[in-house]
Amino acid sequence: VKIDWDVHAAEKGGYEHFMLKEMYEQPKAIADTLSPRIQDGKIEIEELGMTDEDIRAIKKINIVACGSAYHAGLTGKYVMEGMARIPVEVDMASEFRYRDPIIEEGTLVVIISQSGETADSLAALREAKQKGAKVLGIVNVVGSSIAREADSVMYTWAGPEIAVATTKAYSCQLIALYLLAVKFARAKGKITDTQMAELIEDLKKIPDQVEMLLGNQEKIQKFANRYLAAKDVFFIGRGIDYAISMEGSLKLKEVSYIHSEAYAAGELKHGTISLVEEGTLVAAVLTQEDLYKKMISNMVEVRSRGAFVLAVTQEGNDEVTKASDYVIYIPNTNKYFTNSLAIIPLQLFGYYIAVGRGCDVDKPRNLAKSVTVE
Ligand code: AGP
Repeated sequence: VKIDWDVHAAEKGGYEHFMLKEMYEQPKAIADTLSPRIQDGKIEIEELGMTDEDIRAIKKINIVACGSAYHAGLTGKYVMEGMARIPVEVDMASEFRYRDPIIEEGTLVVIISQSGETADSLAALREAKQKGAKVLGIVNVVGSSIAREADSVMYTWAGPEIAVATTKAYSCQLIALYLLAVKFARAKGKITDTQMAELIEDLKKIPDQVEMLLGNQEKIQKFANRYLAAKDVFFIGRGIDYAISMEGSLKLKEVSYIHSEAYAAGELKHGTISLVEEGTLVAAVLTQEDLYKKMISNMVEVRSRGAFVLAVTQEGNDEVTKASDYVIYIPNTNKYFTNSLAIIPLQLFGYYIAVGRGCDVDKPRNLAKSVTVE
C-alpha cells in the first residue's frame, strides 16, 4: 500500500496532521459504521450471511489480528463473552499462524485488519480456513486481500486512514465488535428485545460522546506538555480497561517514541511495580464500577511509590480523586462500551506528547501503515 504523501497533503483539511484530522473524524466514522446495521430497533448484519440458527451453532470464536486491531480484539473478547457467553480466544496473528492452532467444529475465526493486507493476518486467515473454520473479516479497505479471502466481511466505514497510527479505524473496529456481540447475545437468547433496545440506544450516543471528549483537546495538550521528557509510562487497568490500556500505550509509543507498558493492574504487585519510582507517570483506566475499589487500591500503591497518577474514569466516580493527581472523566455509557470513550483522551495524550517532542506524527520512524511483509 504505497501512500503518496504529497497527493494527500491537500486532504489535511486544515488540521496540522492526518492523525488529528482522523481523530476528529471518529464521530462520523462511528456513526457510519453503526447506522447501516441498526434497523427498526434491531441489529441487522446482512453481510454476515448467518441466520440466528447459524449463530447459535457457534461454539467458539478466535479473534486474530495485529497491533491496534489485536487490542480491539481484546476488547471484543470481554464484550462477546460478557454479553453472548460464547468462549473467545484472542491471538496476535504472528503467534496464531505458527502455533498449529486447534480449530474445532463450530469455530468462527474473526480476522480484524484496517488495511486488509497485513501479512501475518492474511496468513492466519489462510491457516484458519485450511483447518476448516468459517472466517469473518472486519476490514476497512474495501476489496483488500483479507476482505476478498474471508468467507464474509463486515466493513468498518472509517474511510481512508492515512496516519500510520490508527485512530478512527480502531474506533470503528470496536463498534463492529459491539454490534456482533449484541446480535450474537440476542440470537442466543442471552438478552431480551428490551435489553437489546437499551444497548442500541447506548450505541447511538457514542458519536456525540466522542465529539464531546474531543473537546478536551486543550486541557490534554496542557497536561501532555508536562510529560515531554517522560522516560517510562505505565497504563494500567482491569478487564476491559486492561484492553484499552494496551491501545493507549501503543499510541504513545508509536508516535512519541517514549517507552510505555500496559499492565493488568492486579498483576503489578507480582514484580513490575519495582519499576515505579518518584515521578513515574501511571495512567490508570477505571471505567468498570465493580472494579473501582480494586483499581483505587492499585493507584494508591503506585502513588505511595512516587508515581504521578492520571486517572480516566466515568463521571460520578468521586472516590477517584483521593488516589489521583489528574482525572479525566468520560460520560456514562454501558459498561461494555466504555473503551470507545476512554480511548479518546489517550489518543489525544499520545498525539500531543509527540507534537511537543517534534516527532513526525503521521509517519513515525521505522513504521509502515500496513505491514505487508513478515
Ligand atoms: C496501529 O496504530 C499501528 N498502525 C499498527 O499496530 C496496526 O494496527 C497493525 O499493523 C495492524 O494493521 P492492520 O489493521 O492494517 O492489519
